[in-house]
Amino acid sequence: MSSNSLQQARNQRAEAVSFIKERLPIDPEYLLILGTGLGQLAEEMTVELELPYEEIPHFPVSTVESHAGKLLIGYLGGKPVMAMQGRFHYYEGYSMNQIAFPIRVAKMLGIQTLLVSNACGGLNPNFERGDIMLINDHINFLGDNPLIGPNDPDLGPRFPDMSQPYTERLLATAEQVALDAGIKMHQGVYLAVSGPMMETKAEYRYMRQLGADVVGMSTVPEVIAAVHMSMEVLGISVITDECFPDSLEPVSLDDVLEAAAMAEPQLTRVVVGVLERL
Ligand code: HPA
Repeated sequence: MSSNSLQQARNQRAEAVSFIKERLPIDPEYLLILGTGLGQLAEEMTVELELPYEEIPHFPVSTVESHAGKLLIGYLGGKPVMAMQGRFHYYEGYSMNQIAFPIRVAKMLGIQTLLVSNACGGLNPNFERGDIMLINDHINFLGDNPLIGPNDPDLGPRFPDMSQPYTERLLATAEQVALDAGIKMHQGVYLAVSGPMMETKAEYRYMRQLGADVVGMSTVPEVIAAVHMSMEVLGISVITDECFPDSLEPVSLDDVLEAAAMAEPQLTRVVVGVLERL
């Protein structure tokens, strides 16, 4: 990216921001990314405005999935939120900058906090299918990241710190919510891969040895973009399959969706509970 394209990226963000701003009925303070397992949150929201991605200038548009994504703006847990219904994955062919675009636009709209969810495979033998886990750190195995290229100092520093990407205050609040509600919830390290294939036994064994508790195909690009801009981050994973190399079973998308549906009520309760307490 040349300095020309840096300017172009700024212009594109500014156009998306002014398009959304002109329509906003409220000022959202939280960005929610509804990954697999958080779809139900959209139903809990009091939605004031829906913006299909394809109407927003320069927003990435889903070409792979059958239903198009949209931004939902409204209230959840009594707080003004903007939710992304439908997210972008690296394996779909989006660039890291495209994946980061909505997060950067959200920050320019005044949003300071990212709440992100995903489906993932469990590597930690103490985890069971259908459990939920707070992400307390990550390993980026995507082989790419959204900060490559000329740095835009308007967004953040060239060499951002990553010593605590997941905000301690939010981790503590989420822990307390789960404890009070009697919800079993783990904490651990999320390792991001590109996918789209599931991993081999040898890869799962290797990832576990590296210190990962779960593995998935999303989240880390958005978190890196958010931390670059000094946003606060809370990440929650749903364990949809058990990736234990010595007893590995084949896994289908239906299995993943079924486990995500099992965990959805607990996940929803934690996210709504955190928003209520903030
Ligand atoms: N690996 C990678 N991504 C995933 C998995 C997995 O086992 N399960 C759900 N998303």
